[in-house]
Amino acid sequence: MSCSKASFVFTFGMLLAATIVLGSPNDPARKAYIVYMGDLPEASTNVEDDHNSLLLHAIGDARIARSSIIHSYRKSFNGFAAKLLPHEVQILSEDKRVVSVFPNKRRNLHTTRSWDFLGMPLWLQNKNMRVQNDMVIGILDTGIYMGTPSFTDHGYGPAPAKWKGKCKAALNFTGCNKKVIGAKFFDLDNMGHGMESSPIDEDGHGTHTSSTAAGVPVPNASLYGIAEGTARGGVPAARIAMYKVCWGIGCSDMDILAGFDEAIADGVDFISISIGGQSRSYFEDPIAIGSFHAMRAGILTACSAGNEGPDIFTVQNVAPWILTVGASSIDRQYEAAISLGNGAKSSGISINTFSSGNGMLPLISGALAANSTNIGYGNASLCDYGTLNPAMVKGKIVYCMENMGQEYTIKELGGIGIITSSDIEIDLAMMTLIPGTTVTSKNGMNIDQYIRSSKKPQASLSKTRGVKVAAPLVASFSARGPQLISPNIFKPDILAPGLGILAGYSMIPSVTGDPTDKRHSAFNILSGTSMACPHAVASAAYVKSLHLDWSPAAVRSALMTTATPVKTKHRLDELGIGSGQINPVKAADPGLVYDIGMKSYVRVLCYEGHNDTMIGLLMGGKAKFRCSSLKPAHGVDGINYPSMHIQLKNTNKVSGVFFRTLTNVGFPKSVYTATVTPPKGLNVQVIPSKLTFVRQGQKQSFKVRVEGESDHKEMEVLTGSIEWSDSRHVVRSPILIYIGTYLDDLEKHS
Ligand SMILES: *[C@@H]1O[C@H](CO)[C@@H](O)[C@H](O)[C@H]1NC(C)=O
Ligand SMILES: *[C@@H]1O[C@H](CO)[C@@H](O)[C@H](O)[C@H]1NC(C)=O
Ligand SMILES: *[C@@H]1O[C@H](CO)[C@@H](O)[C@H](O)[C@H]1NC(C)=O
Ligand SMILES: *[C@@H]1O[C@H](CO)[C@@H](O)[C@H](O)[C@H]1NC(C)=O
Ligand SMILES: *[C@@H]1O[C@H](CO)[C@@H](O)[C@H](O)[C@H]1NC(C)=O
Repeated sequence: MSCSKASFVFTFGMLLAATIVLGSPNDPARKAYIVYMGDLPEASTNVEDDHNSLLLHAIGDARIARSSIIHSYRKSFNGFAAKLLPHEVQILSEDKRVVSVFPNKRRNLHTTRSWDFLGMPLWLQNKNMRVQNDMVIGILDTGIYMGTPSFTDHGYGPAPAKWKGKCKAALNFTGCNKKVIGAKFFDLDNMGHGMESSPIDEDGHGTHTSSTAAGVPVPNASLYGIAEGTARGGVPAARIAMYKVCWGIGCSDMDILAGFDEAIADGVDFISISIGGQSRSYFEDPIAIGSFHAMRAGILTACSAGNEGPDIFTVQNVAPWILTVGASSIDRQYEAAISLGNGAKSSGISINTFSSGNGMLPLISGALAANSTNIGYGNASLCDYGTLNPAMVKGKIVYCMENMGQEYTIKELGGIGIITSSDIEIDLAMMTLIPGTTVTSKNGMNIDQYIRSSKKPQASLSKTRGVKVAAPLVASFSARGPQLISPNIFKPDILAPGLGILAGYSMIPSVTGDPTDKRHSAFNILSGTSMACPHAVASAAYVKSLHLDWSPAAVRSALMTTATPVKTKHRLDELGIGSGQINPVKAADPGLVYDIGMKSYVRVLCYEGHNDTMIGLLMGGKAKFRCSSLKPAHGVDGINYPSMHIQLKNTNKVSGVFFRTLTNVGFPKSVYTATVTPPKGLNVQVIPSKLTFVRQGQKQSFKVRVEGESDHKEMEVLTGSIEWSDSRHVVRSPILIYIGTYLDDLEKHS
């Protein structure tokens, strides 16, 4: 995931080069930074004055200081964004009032355009409408398109009384309604050039995630007839508030932080954020900071885990107070049938909305359409750009080896269809710009053979249809652990559907996002951990609607301990699954939860080496904070997490203890017994192995000792589980041991 440099900010400033004085507000050496200061100070202080005086102290010149400040965060936490020179960054970093100073970077949406669908699960009963009706899901994304039928507000009452958010009609944005009760946009980084300054969704992503979380049921929704069915959100009665922080080229840290600042103050109940970037230490990461303050306000933040799988060490948004969500498949795959002129039939995977009418069309391969005078670069068999002869391609379906977006080339050269091949089994169906599909390489060889042996090769490509497949599996692209920041807390936490999801879309972009594409649709099929995250947030809202007194951690625990174990296809898939596939109906009655309060999060920050000064700022208040005043965290991970994980390097001796506490949220009188499935070759002891509860809310503690030695020399993943059962509930925690080597470390840093 690449983050563009913040220097983009100054493109405009540079136009004024003639007036630039070194050190001045327009000095191109000034870069945007976020100065994070923790909790809000006492109510009597004027936060903006504080920011100005701090900045004046660092910069020295009042005029420059005034014009260097970009934004003050002062609604839900304390900090500001400003354009700074390196020595000013230094001065601010050393100030006692400052937690961290970090450069503003750009992050990406966790989706890739124009992909496939497998069907929107209808797993949630519309229970508890009245409570859900008072819930607001805050979404930080690309904006919202109100014209999508998912956001009609028929039958909704006014916004809940607690709601403080706002919304105004502006430009083409028609304003909110009783379903979408808030919409704001942030563009502190001037990324919206050529785009509308309003909360309107010119991309489609934000409309898709919002309608997945809380869209109303829309019967007969489909993308050109594909994936036809009722599209609806997980908690259709809940309200939506959109905070637009992403623009055409990405999402800026400054805007993400502003979105959190407002959403928490507006009174959202949950936050869904399908955005990511390089993991940084928690207090230099706007998503970790924002979600920390959300957690303090009782708001659970769900984040997408990222799409850089199946490589390991790719998981993002890993702070212990976040619900980190990976993507799973659902039980349908999208196939486009192929018929060849010789009568042979096969199929590929893609979203092809075009109907062929079964007509046979001329077919050629890239290899045979090569420009014979072009020597030196590219490979025509792969249809590389510049290698083909347009006269040979025009009016034909072209077969290209490998699968790397060659459709743009074929379309440009006048080709009317494309068949690509893939060496690896693919689970992700791409939406094609022209009729097209992707076949296995074995299938591809047969097609290539036919083209070479036939005088007049022909083929027809059918429109995509859904077929049933085994599910769920972790999506190939879904990010894998382990993580680097809190190495013994496993992420992602859970899987939710993220492969081929049909949901509401914006009519402004085309369905592929390509400007030459003429197809627009109020529903579209997208894939990514971006799509999984709103499924998880809706599940969390559903659970919370039945247990209004539960903390964010209790809700997360319920989702994790009741998740369904997921089968794996490849050796390292375990690193992408977390606790398994989300099951919101089961999560409504988990029996026991692993709760984590504010103090426990602070304890783990102390445990991980953050010092008193810094944590004191996060916590606010007058009294000086001391880690030593808390009962020290202990065990492998120092936190009451619903999963158990040890990350080892350059040793295969496993030895660790987890300390855990369960809270009874089931029957008042109950007895739970532990069943252990030890990771291969290891010994796992649970002490005690029986827990007796006599009332609701009662807590009981236990410890888990994991010991043994792996006989492997290389990197290894060992998995097992602990299940507490009272015969009505099963409270399951995965145990995952990652044994790495020096080589793995090299790989993940390369
Ligand atoms: C509003 O929409 C129209 C029609 O799509 C478009 O031409 C116009 O540029 C939009 N206005 C703004 C301010 O973007
Ligand atoms: C949905 O489509 C089917 C067939 O395409 C039709 O029979 C049915 O009446 C439609 N339902 C609604 C609610 O439009
Ligand atoms: C073939 O490649 C040569 C060299 O790159 C180029 O000059 C020529 O225009 C190409 N011919 C066609 C038909 O694209
Ligand atoms: C072109 O790519 C194919 C498939 O990867 C490969 O088999 C072939 O050797 C390549 N040809 C050249 C000239 O590199
Ligand atoms: C606390 O940690 C911060 C950030 O790592 C550091 O800048 C500061 O000097 C530390 N303070 C003390 C008293 O160690």
